[in-house]
Amino acid sequence: MQRLYCLIMVSNAHYFEQDPSSDQVEGSVQLSLPDFSTTLRTSNNVFSWKRVDPGTKFLLLNAPIPDSQPKNILDLGCGYGPITAYLEHRFSTTKVWGIDVNNRAIELAKTNMQQENTVICKPDEVPDDVNFDLIYSNPPVRIGKHNLKKLLTTWLNRLNPLGSAHLVINKNLGADSIQKWLETEAWMTHRLKSVSGYRILEVKHRV
Ligand SMILES: C[S@@+](CC[C@H](N)C(=O)[O-])C[C@H]1O[C@@H](n2cnc3c(N)ncnc32)[C@H](O)[C@@H]1O
Repeated sequence: MQRLYCLIMVSNAHYFEQDPSSDQVEGSVQLSLPDFSTTLRTSNNVFSWKRVDPGTKFLLLNAPIPDSQPKNILDLGCGYGPITAYLEHRFSTTKVWGIDVNNRAIELAKTNMQQENTVICKPDEVPDDVNFDLIYSNPPVRIGKHNLKKLLTTWLNRLNPLGSAHLVINKNLGADSIQKWLETEAWMTHRLKSVSGYRILEVKHRV
């Protein structure tokens, strides 16, 4: 009976827990994009550990990536790092920040990165005076609306005045209501692309 309870507890662990408690099972996934391909280390209890999440891939294939090399870019909720890995490949002289609360994800993302300029850390380790030219995120919608709004407010407020954020959110997981809420919070939003239930929202300061 006790064993059954343990198994249930393990299967209920959330990818956004700080210290997922189940035994570690190692894995790897292939990130294949037209201009970049890499193998990334993963493990159980991190988000989408058996394949690159389709929403993440949709974001990487469709979000605009400028030719310039901005100073700071954020991957909000980096997981094992598929978005950060692509960003550090595209922005070789930019400081790319990947942040997450899941210690296992942070550990994996650190081993998956190649560039010295990339920083993988906990959210509270980002110095207060760092602001971002660009934010890319497949945000943790499963933390609940209240927590998600708090999280987005915190990091969108650190966008530089001319900066932009690109968020991929599943329509069935509240993309449209989040867009509406962002508008009421005085952000300018634009639905850049919508396919198979995924939306990419561009978010900017209102001018
Ligand atoms: C939908 S997953 C995306 C992970 C990764 N970017 C990917 O595309 O595979 C969202 C991530 O946000 C992280 N997360 C949850 N709460 C967070 C918070 N308060 N601050 C930063 N990251 C958080 C989760 O641990 C999870 O790794």
